[in-house]
Amino acid sequence: MIRRFIYGNPFSTEAVVTEVPLGEGTPAYGCIDTEQGFCFSYIMEENDIVYGLGEANRGVNKRGYCYISDCTDDPNHTEDKRSLYGAHNLIVVAGAKTFGLFFDYPSAMTFDIGYTRMDTLQVSCDEANLNLFVIDGDSAYDIVRQFRKIIGRSYIPPKYAFGFGQSRWGYKTKEDFRKVADGYRNHSLPLDMVYMDIDYMQDFKDFTLNEKNFSDFPEFVQEMKDRHIRLIPIIDAGVKVEDGYDVYEEGVKNRYFCQREDGSDFVAAVWPGDTHFPDVLNDDARRWFGDKYQILTDQGIEGFWNDMNEPAIFYTPEGISELKTLLKSFLENEDSAGGMTAGALACDKKPGEDDGTAEGAQDDMAAGASIWPLMGKIGSLANSKEDYRSFYHNVNGQRVRHDKVHNLFGYYMTRAAGEAFERIDPDKRFLMFSRSSYIGMHRYGGIWMGDNKSWWSHILLNLKMLPSLNMCGFLYTGADLGGFGADATRDLLLRWLALGVFTPLMRDHAAQGTREQECFQFEDIEDFRHVLHVRYRLIPYLYSEYMKAALKDDLYFKPLAFVYPEDAMALQVEDQMMLGDEIMIAPVYTQNAKGRYVYLPEEMKFVKFLPDGTISEELLGQGHHYVEIALNEVPLFIRNGKCIPVAEAAEYVDALDTRHMTMLGYEGAEYELYEDDGVSKDYEKKENYRTLKY
Ligand code: GLC
Repeated sequence: MIRRFIYGNPFSTEAVVTEVPLGEGTPAYGCIDTEQGFCFSYIMEENDIVYGLGEANRGVNKRGYCYISDCTDDPNHTEDKRSLYGAHNLIVVAGAKTFGLFFDYPSAMTFDIGYTRMDTLQVSCDEANLNLFVIDGDSAYDIVRQFRKIIGRSYIPPKYAFGFGQSRWGYKTKEDFRKVADGYRNHSLPLDMVYMDIDYMQDFKDFTLNEKNFSDFPEFVQEMKDRHIRLIPIIDAGVKVEDGYDVYEEGVKNRYFCQREDGSDFVAAVWPGDTHFPDVLNDDARRWFGDKYQILTDQGIEGFWNDMNEPAIFYTPEGISELKTLLKSFLENEDSAGGMTAGALACDKKPGEDDGTAEGAQDDMAAGASIWPLMGKIGSLANSKEDYRSFYHNVNGQRVRHDKVHNLFGYYMTRAAGEAFERIDPDKRFLMFSRSSYIGMHRYGGIWMGDNKSWWSHILLNLKMLPSLNMCGFLYTGADLGGFGADATRDLLLRWLALGVFTPLMRDHAAQGTREQECFQFEDIEDFRHVLHVRYRLIPYLYSEYMKAALKDDLYFKPLAFVYPEDAMALQVEDQMMLGDEIMIAPVYTQNAKGRYVYLPEEMKFVKFLPDGTISEELLGQGHHYVEIALNEVPLFIRNGKCIPVAEAAEYVDALDTRHMTMLGYEGAEYELYEDDGVSKDYEKKENYRTLKY
């Protein structure tokens, strides 16, 4: 049962799409204080678990830290970070009392889950203007499924999007893309997509192509398609300010960009230099921006990734002018003190302790020059709160300051694309995933987990985020395999791919300047071929489970606790996940490990895909086990009494033969396979299901 409680005058986010009855009085759990902003508090019992928050740091059980829903472009996902790119305000408390809460509030919101006091859960925000949905249910899993029903069906990608994709920031020319295609095809490494990062554009202008490098683009798109490879270009949020650039000029003319208080178009510097942000919260502007995707679909493009849509700001002219003031007074002080001042060294303020404003700094200067305000300003130029407070949306006639709806930008940018695809070709699925998101965006696209690093700990972070994202509706998701920042190693990439085998989005992506990490860059390529083969062999099963999860508003990845709620040990396991109804995954995420410990809540078949193409199966009883898993093996566990289909490997999704598959698992079991044409939207047809017997 779900009830909605309305506080103040909430902004309509359209995260929830079904009518939910209003609750009477106050919610049955915790207490709510609206004296100063909004604050929900609840005293947790010692064994209560708190699930949810989608794309967030740390564990599956969110207890023990403080998280802030405040979409942020931060490429350093260290353990101390409180905000990542998404804002997914669902939490489920499971324990003494079990209930779910969705705080539908589009500005910054703090989830203190046992951080200030270990037993206290506090959810707070500055303004008491929100919809609170309170969900009662039999279990955490039941609550999550009820929640999923009210937010609408998750995005369904085309089937080819379950293939493997290669990406790198730095591919610039047709030759660069051909080299990637050759690297995969010539080594018989499966591949379905190559991603085009910002360098394909002319001067980083959205919906343009570099004139020198991409003449005859439709022919090039077709050349790749003839090799069964789709090109997937990036689209950034900021539109370059440049006379003569039609998207810029149309946006200015029609007032489709976000504006400053004085009505001028807000300027933020991102990759192209100065940009304007399309006002995607405005219906007309959203439609206009969405229609631009057709410039590329008309040339044969069938999928995109939306980026920098927190929206990320490197700096603004206002920020730079404050910096100049600070620098000027610092230098003047330096000169008058004749070099390094005592104040600069014996400073009592460190970066972050100062508000970074010119006035604050000038006070400091008077008391003796200090470098910290200046350093603080440099550090806070990007994604500054002040900048987010200085521009406005025109929400269909109503002026709304950006910071009040900050967390919706990525959602509405992706919605712009999703709505446009419906107009461009209503019967066709397009690939779409975004970096920033809010619940509601899950209907229009997936997400990737942003700029992670080539660190072993990020394999585990990737794994732990998966079920939480699914709870919030984001099913099509995955991380940059091999890590985006820092240099990947062969073993790290192999282990990470062995997790990526199971994530719907399976993409190797890396930052410019890092070590090249395409699968053909390392020795003994056959090991990479083998791991990718396992992915393709499992696609019929993975796709089937994805589709069932999407069509039934269910989870593709679940914590063990959702399947074995009575098992005290299963409640604690966070480095193994249930996938679909049949399998459990337990990837290796430790450097130099030759295997790992696993906990089996019931008897299971331990399956290993071996490098020679054969498959080993071993029956393991309930309990703890140490299992050996070599660097070139892919493990999975099949639940007692279940079976899954396995196809022969193929080099691209369309080449998979799903008529001749073998079964794996328990003999006598049956599996209901979902299969469709992978492109159209006729999901509910009975013929899409068939029973396979082992
Ligand atoms: C951002 C994206 C990353 C991309 C880069 C250049 O950092 O998160 O994936 O490669 O921008 O476009």
